[in-house]
Parts: sequence; structure tokens; C-alpha cells
Amino acid sequence: MLNDLQNEIIQLKEEKNAIILAHNYQTGDIQEIADFMGDSLELCIKASEIEDKDLVVFCGVDFMAETAAILNPDKKILIPDTEAECPMANMLPASEIRKAKERHSDAAVVLYVNTLAEAKAEADILCTSANAVKIVQSLDEDTVLFGPDMNLASYVSNFTDKEIIPIPEGGHCYVHKMFTGEIFFLREKYPDAEILVHPECNPEIQEMADHVLSTGGMVNYVKESPKNTFIIGTEVDMVTRLRRENPDKSIIPALSEAICKTMKLHTLEKIKNSLLNEEFVVRVDEDIADKARSAVERMIEVSKR
Ligand code: 13P
Ligand code: SF4
Repeated sequence: MLNDLQNEIIQLKEEKNAIILAHNYQTGDIQEIADFMGDSLELCIKASEIEDKDLVVFCGVDFMAETAAILNPDKKILIPDTEAECPMANMLPASEIRKAKERHSDAAVVLYVNTLAEAKAEADILCTSANAVKIVQSLDEDTVLFGPDMNLASYVSNFTDKEIIPIPEGGHCYVHKMFTGEIFFLREKYPDAEILVHPECNPEIQEMADHVLSTGGMVNYVKESPKNTFIIGTEVDMVTRLRRENPDKSIIPALSEAICKTMKLHTLEKIKNSLLNEEFVVRVDEDIADKARSAVERMIEVSKR
């Protein structure tokens, strides 16, 4: 049953003709009132298909909300807390990409969607953890500048013949860096469990896991698998979603401390405020948005093939 605040938000949402999009790492109370939940790719595709709504409240981090704004220049995209930034996205400034392009003039530039709009404007195409291999394989170039996540770069290089050059040195997600080999001791406690980890985890963790999946990939895998027990190696609220949607299965966090602090800045109170006051509007400079849009749209087009 929804609480009073959740009901108020749902009513406001109708009055304002708004839609609430939420990433899989949002807390359970937000998951319950979201119109659509997903991984970065699913949220990108959903954002590209919104036609009949006046407002979009985006419960995720800055680069996700910016992508929605890039795809919808005529819509009001709101983020409930402007401090919800992804530290990984801040690791790759546009200037660094331009320098790398000078050094490798024949390389394609593939950027993880976890980048700021200025960086996206420098990319030939974007990717997410769900489609990175497919995107890189779709390119004619043999050499690829890939950033900012080194672990996703290493994952992609395992599945393609292309030369992958990670930019910058050491780009990473602090949440997924928390996972160490210790999580595999859980196999003793849960011998029938499958261990699913995100490609932002270190390569040695990916090698020891049963499957390496985006958060959307985890949703589909757990739903369709005949297995009953899963150990989840990503942000803890992924477990919240999986438990809600699979009440008969046993979903265990690999590490309960794996919390993305900025994802948690959004709260029901702030969402209500966002709807009431139509704030905070996500703004992307028009020139930058125009350049970045082609890289986002190209990714969506290749993903749908
Ligand atoms: P997904 O696209 O798999 O949801 O990952 C986004 C992210 O930020 C993971 O930390
Ligand atoms: Fe960024 Fe990591 Fe948080 Fe994902 S989990 S939004 S990559 S800091």
C-alpha cells in the first residue's frame, strides 16, 4: 500500500501531465511511484519516445537526466536534486578527449553514457553497459578510444578484435570498485546461487562471476532463469527491485555497503517539490546538445538493430 506522500505525488503527476523515470538504483519508495524504471539504455530509449507528457521527472544521476534533455530539447526535464552527480562522468573532461583524438586520429570515439554532455559532443557514438560490445563491433574503425570506465573497456576488449584504448587512465566507479574476491565466499553459504556482477566491477571479479550484466540485463536474467538464488554484485537497490519483482526467489546483495550516495539524494519529498515547483530544470547548451544528440541517436539506432 502506498503512503500519503506517494499518493500525493501520483496525484500531482496527473495534474501536471508528468512522467517519472527512475534508474534501477533508486530506493524502494521511489521505485513504487515511478512510471518507468530501467538501466541507462532503457531510460535513454524511453526518454526518446516521450511524446504525450509535459514534464519528465528524472530520478537518476546528472548524465542520465542530461541525456533525456539532449533527446527532448522541447520538453522540461526535471531532476529532484541537482547534486546527484556521477563521479565517474566527471573523470573525462572534453579537453582530454580532444587531446586523445589528436594522438589517435584514425580511432573512433566510443563513450560510455556515463559522461557529461560536453564529452558526449566529442563522441562518434555512445554506449551503455548493456550494448557496449555490439556498439564497438558495429564500427568500421579498428581502433577505438573508449572511456571513461576502464573496467567496461576491458570487458569490451575481451569480446572484440578491435584495439581498445581506454581514456582517461584509471576511470572507474567507486561503488563497483568496492567488490573484492571476498564476495565469492558467499558461494559456500549459497552453493546453488548464481553470481551476477556489473561490468564496472574489476576484471578479476568479472572472471569469477557466473554472468556479467547491465542492471537491465540482471532484471531480465533473474526473471527468466529457472534458478532460485542470485547474488547481486552491483548497487544495493538493484536487490530491492529484484526482490519486488521476484518475490519467490532469493536475492542476496554481494555487498550491502555498495551504495551510490548521489543516487540516494533523491527522496519522495524532493520529487514532490520538483513536481510542485517544476524544478530543477536540466539545461544543456544548445550547440553541445546538437552535437551530442547524434552520438546518442546513433547508439539507439545500432541497439535496435
Ligand atoms: P546500467 O546502465 O547497467 O544501469 O549502469 C549504470 C550505472 O551507472 C552503473 O553504475
Ligand atoms: Fe556513477 Fe557508479 Fe553511481 Fe553508477 S554507481 S551512477 S557509475 S557512481
